[in-house]
Amino acid sequence: MTHPTISKGLAGVVADTTAISKVDPDTNSLLYRGYPVQELATRCSFEEVARLLWDGELPDTGTLDAFRERERTGRALDERVRRVVDDLPTSAHPMDVVRTAVSVLGALDPQAAENSPAAELAKAERLFAALPAVVAHAQRRRRGQDLPAPREDLGYAANFLWAVTGEEPDEVAVRTFETSLVLYAEHSFNASTFAARVVTSTLSDLHSAVTAAVGALKGPLHGGANEAVWAAFEEIGPGQGAPDRARAWLADALEDHRKVMGFGHRVYRHGDSRVPTMQAALRELAGARGREDLLELSDALETAVVQAKDIQPNLDYPAGPAYHLLGLDTDLFTPVFVAARVVGWTAHVVEQRAANSLIRPLSAYDGPPLRHVPSPQA
Ligand code: ACO
Repeated sequence: MTHPTISKGLAGVVADTTAISKVDPDTNSLLYRGYPVQELATRCSFEEVARLLWDGELPDTGTLDAFRERERTGRALDERVRRVVDDLPTSAHPMDVVRTAVSVLGALDPQAAENSPAAELAKAERLFAALPAVVAHAQRRRRGQDLPAPREDLGYAANFLWAVTGEEPDEVAVRTFETSLVLYAEHSFNASTFAARVVTSTLSDLHSAVTAAVGALKGPLHGGANEAVWAAFEEIGPGQGAPDRARAWLADALEDHRKVMGFGHRVYRHGDSRVPTMQAALRELAGARGREDLLELSDALETAVVQAKDIQPNLDYPAGPAYHLLGLDTDLFTPVFVAARVVGWTAHVVEQRAANSLIRPLSAYDGPPLRHVPSPQA
C-alpha cells in the first residue's frame, strides 16, 4: 500500500501565518508581537503583556488603567459557576474544574451569541478576570476554605496568589509568579492553541475553543508536565544525597523507557528560550525562602538528563518547583498555566476568525480493503 508523505504529529508542517508570536529554534528566541519575551517578562506586567498579545501594541497608560479597572471588577467568582463547581467531587482534578467552569462561563456570557472582534475581546477579558477565582476555588474548596474577597488594591498576579493562599504575597513571590505568567502566555501553534484554532475554524464560539484548549493542555506531554516535574522532585527527594538519588532515579526512568517530564520540546532543539528567565526567577525565590536544596536537586537532575540524553529543560522544569514554593497544590500548576495561556488562545481565536479557513487535514487510509456485508442467509 503506498501512502502520500505523512507528517506524524504534523511535525514540520507550517499550518498558517500568525502575527502574534514567533518561535525561532535557530536563534533560540521567542517574540510576542516582535518583542523578546525576556524583555517583557522583566519589564512589563502581565496585564500589559495581555493587551500586547490581544491588541498588537503595548498599551498606553489610559488603555492600561481602563483595562485594569475592568479586570478588577470581574474578579469575583460568579455564584452560578460556584454552584456547578461545588457539585463536582472534591477529587476532581482542578483542570476538570477549570474546563467545566470555562464552559459554564461561555453559556452565561452576556455576548454568548456574538463573535465580532470587539465581542471576542470583551469575552477574552472577562475570562482573563474570572479564571484566578476559579483556579483558587479549586484548591480552597477541597481544604474546606472559603475564597477570600478579591483585593482591589492588588494587581492581577498578587491578587491571584492572595486568592489561592489567603495571604498577601511578598514582592519576590509576585515577581516570580508574574514572570511565569508572561512566559506561559503564548507560544504560537502549540497543541492547545492549535486545538483552539481548529474549533474556531468551524465558526464555533470563543468559549468552546478555550474549553477544547484546556483539554489539550491537560495532557502530560503539554501543560501537564509542570505537575509531573514536581512529582519527580518529590519522588527523588531534596536534601543531602539528592544528586546521587537524581542520577539513580533517572537511570530507572530511562530503563523503563519513561520520558522525563520538563525536558525536550517539539520546536526548540537547543533549549527552550524561556528557561533562563524562569530559572533566574526560581533561583531568587528559592534563595529568599532558604530552599537552596531544591536548586541543588534541580541542577543535579538537569545535568544528569543532559549528559544521558542531550535533551534540554523546557519552561515546565523551573516553573514546577517555583509554583510549589508559591504555595500551590501540585495539581494547580496546569490550571495556572491555563490562566496565563488563555491570553494567547483568545488572541489566536480572533486571528483565526479574521482570515478563516476550515482546518481539515487529509488522512491516508490503512484499514481493511473494500469488503461487503454478507447477505442474510436464506
Ligand atoms: N525524556 C526522555 N526522552 C525524551 C524526552 C524526555 N523528556 N523528550 C524527547 N525524548 C527522546 C524520545 O524518547 C525520542 O528518543 P528516540 O528517538 O530514541 O525514540 C527522541 O527524544 C525524540 O522524542 P519525541 O517524543 O519523538 O520528540 P517530540 O518532538 O515529539 O517531543 C515532547 C516533544 C513531546 C515535548 C517530548 O520532548 C516530551 O515528551 N517531553 C516531556 C513532556 C514535557 O516536558 N512536555 C512539556 C512541553 S513544553 C510546554 O508545554 C511548556
